[in-house]
Amino acid sequence: MQRRHFLFGLAAASAGGFLLRPDDRGAPHDAYFTALNESLKAGGPGRPVLIVDLDRLERNCKRLTQSLNGKQYRVVAKSMPSAGLIAHVMQHTGFTRVMSFHQPFVNLLAKDMPRADILLGKPMPVQAAATFYRRFDTAGSFDPRSQLQWLIDTPDRLAQYQQLARTLGAQVRINVEIDVGLHRGGLTAVEQLPPMLATIAADPRHLSFAGFMGYDAHVGRIPPLIESRDASLAKVLNTYHSYIDCVRANQPAMMNDALVLNGAGSPTFRLHGKDSPLNEVSVGSALVKPADYDLELLADFEPASFIATPVIKAWDGLHLPGAEAVGKVWTVWDRNRQRSFFIYGGSGSASYTSPQGLTDNPEYEGMINASRAVHLEVDDYIFLRPNQSEGVFLQFGDLALVRNGRIEAWWPVFNPGHEVS
Ligand SMILES: Cc1ncc(COP(=O)(O)O)c(C=O)c1O
Repeated sequence: MQRRHFLFGLAAASAGGFLLRPDDRGAPHDAYFTALNESLKAGGPGRPVLIVDLDRLERNCKRLTQSLNGKQYRVVAKSMPSAGLIAHVMQHTGFTRVMSFHQPFVNLLAKDMPRADILLGKPMPVQAAATFYRRFDTAGSFDPRSQLQWLIDTPDRLAQYQQLARTLGAQVRINVEIDVGLHRGGLTAVEQLPPMLATIAADPRHLSFAGFMGYDAHVGRIPPLIESRDASLAKVLNTYHSYIDCVRANQPAMMNDALVLNGAGSPTFRLHGKDSPLNEVSVGSALVKPADYDLELLADFEPASFIATPVIKAWDGLHLPGAEAVGKVWTVWDRNRQRSFFIYGGSGSASYTSPQGLTDNPEYEGMINASRAVHLEVDDYIFLRPNQSEGVFLQFGDLALVRNGRIEAWWPVFNPGHEVS
């Protein structure tokens, strides 16, 4: 695309079409990023860091709790992979429910957050559950029988977990994953449920029924010509209702207010109003709002996480090895190539945010260009927004927590290989 612009530019310039030049898209850091830049330069570690703005995060927590429509809230640990962050979100939302996706983190949460209510976000091989119980310290106050729901997606897996429970002499809580249209996992037809409920009902010493999880990330993502958001949502709600009706019809004693009817995610939780059967929603990403979550339904949420990375080299002009002349003509055509920068790193899976108008050079990997309106110098920081929090948050070591433009604390992220002995 850029190459085409460039070639077109050359032709246009030589033809006297100078008026077609791209606009100057550059601008210096605004007051918010100037403050962050100054404090990182004064007291930062001099390497790429992942920043979470606590003021913004807390305001996002408030926006979330005001949009719950009477439902409970569960924080998604995968999108918020730090015990400190999860605890902070729990404190500012008033909920202690968490959805976890990784066995070592389940052990960690059970140890460090004995009041947490944990629901698995994906079904785990039974060995993972066995590992959890082997590593679990029974001396703590966390009680897996009431505080931990394993996610079960097939009768076979249910049988494996039942066998594990028998071997351990334990009772395991079963949450049944249902496919509400995403087709990622879970029961695909309501007829699959009654035999599973019967298995649970017949073995109360080892199994208890906790509820359902039906994730609906496809809603709003299907091209509207194929299926509208409303139509997808209506199918989700209908499917969910049919599973609840099935419990009522087959095992009425299992129907109670304590059942967890979980669903939704950042892009969809605001679609679940009073007519939704869900009694809790899982949300993580919206609270830090990575760039992929710039969605109409989340318009009032503030970006609360940034990658800050130092400038290693800054110079005027566009210096292409062996092609200095080409670089010169290019800067004349496109003012957004007037300056060149090289950074420490950390820009993968992220979008340039501040200063405005940074753009990768398509001919020179690693070179960033901007116009003269961008006043970056060596040791200044540039800021990017992670496109997603999942994964990206784990790449920078401890998270830097900022308030009013100043680093207030450092919180460790989950270590994916973490083993609690
Ligand atoms: C089962 C489940 N629920 C909810 C979510 C929503 O997470 P987020 O709010 O970060 O989009 C996810 C994300 O992958 C998920 O897998």
